Amino acid sequence: MMTFKDLHFPNGFLWGSAASAHQTEGHNNNDWTEWERLPGKIRDGITSEIACDHYNRYEEDFALAKSLGHQVHRFSVEWSRIEPSQGHWDPKELEHYRKVVEALLARDIQPMVTLHHFTNPLWFSNQDAWLNPESPELFAPYCRKMAELLCDYDIIWNTINEPMVVAVAGYLFGEFPPGMHDYGKALTVAKHLLMAHGQAATQIREVYEERGLEQPQIAPVVSVSYFMPADSSNEDDIELAQYYNELYNHIWTRGAVTGTLPEPLGDGSPYAPLQQSTDFIGLNYYSRILVSSEVDFLAGEEPPKDPNLERCEGLDWEVFPEGYYHVLKEFWERYSVPIFLTENGIGTSDDSLRCRYILQHLQQVHRAISEGVDIRGYLVWSLTDNFEWAHGYSSHFGLVEVDYQTLRRQPRESAYMFREIIENNGISAELQSKYLQAAHTPQDC
Ligand code: GAL
Repeated sequence: MMTFKDLHFPNGFLWGSAASAHQTEGHNNNDWTEWERLPGKIRDGITSEIACDHYNRYEEDFALAKSLGHQVHRFSVEWSRIEPSQGHWDPKELEHYRKVVEALLARDIQPMVTLHHFTNPLWFSNQDAWLNPESPELFAPYCRKMAELLCDYDIIWNTINEPMVVAVAGYLFGEFPPGMHDYGKALTVAKHLLMAHGQAATQIREVYEERGLEQPQIAPVVSVSYFMPADSSNEDDIELAQYYNELYNHIWTRGAVTGTLPEPLGDGSPYAPLQQSTDFIGLNYYSRILVSSEVDFLAGEEPPKDPNLERCEGLDWEVFPEGYYHVLKEFWERYSVPIFLTENGIGTSDDSLRCRYILQHLQQVHRAISEGVDIRGYLVWSLTDNFEWAHGYSSHFGLVEVDYQTLRRQPRESAYMFREIIENNGISAELQSKYLQAAHTPQDC
């Protein structure tokens, strides 16, 4: 019989969900749209097309978020809508995103706006996208435009979503556009995305400064995995796990926090636009990664997974809540910068697994907070089911189910469980007992 304690979260802790433009809006025209048309790139050969039709249904979706108790909503602006050709701004689309922000604020939901979430306008990808040495400067005018549009509203800004995923999935493993397999290019892209984060923050700061407004909170959003040696007694595995932890989790983040271009992205020198670029770190955590010296990780090989761990549908990530605690501790010990949990969740058709996943991960978040880690909020990925990139519509991450035939939204039980957590600003022992009693948990909490 497992025993549980009531877990209280700090006053002012913010709860909500996250989403991105291309995965929900429908009918975008960007580099992903072109990629989806290539044979074999997306599971089942489908394309994002109408997605969740969120572009037309955002009011309905935000009303749902409100009814489910959400206090903050993270979404991205689709750059290709705002700047469909270089230097040309679409007034209709600018107005659209103003209305999106107003629709959230009207419901007393804090908007968290991401400027870049994986997709690029075609004019930008036709100029080599993030391989182009000018790419950070090409990104800057759009960031200024958005800051000018939204600076009078209460916004939390996210610059770049998961730069290392853009670099690794697009330029090393070839699963995302432009489908390359080149380690050196992946590093170049990571460097340019770091510079782009600096450019975005600088543009936002300048606009607020020029208008005499109080500076907003700005953060990049990093994807963080818990790298573990496949064999914890093997020195080579341990060393490799540390190496990939540095490379994937830390080098980019260190650059953003210290205002430099660290090796091997740059030569360690300061990059002026990165100064004052990072008020907090947006951190996305889903799973662990096992590292073994016996397989070629950079070629996409993996050691065998643990058959006893539950998995994320389609993506096959292992459920490993304890890793969340370790990465949170490490980020706090290294940077002492507040953390906002900008994505955590699971793709599954088994909603009881989603309930367990959320609870077990929040137990670890609470454990980190109780040991002094400054964590400001937690967002479930995602509000609704949506287009899961290379996995198409096969992985169901939503608190709210979407019927792709009718586009009808239906909250799942996990959505109501999460609402109860939000209402209590914590997790009662009773709630944990209800959903976790029969489940395997790494420890009693
Ligand atoms: C993140 C990404 C999201 C979503 C999620 C689940 O890496 O930011 O767009 O796809 O993973 O895979």
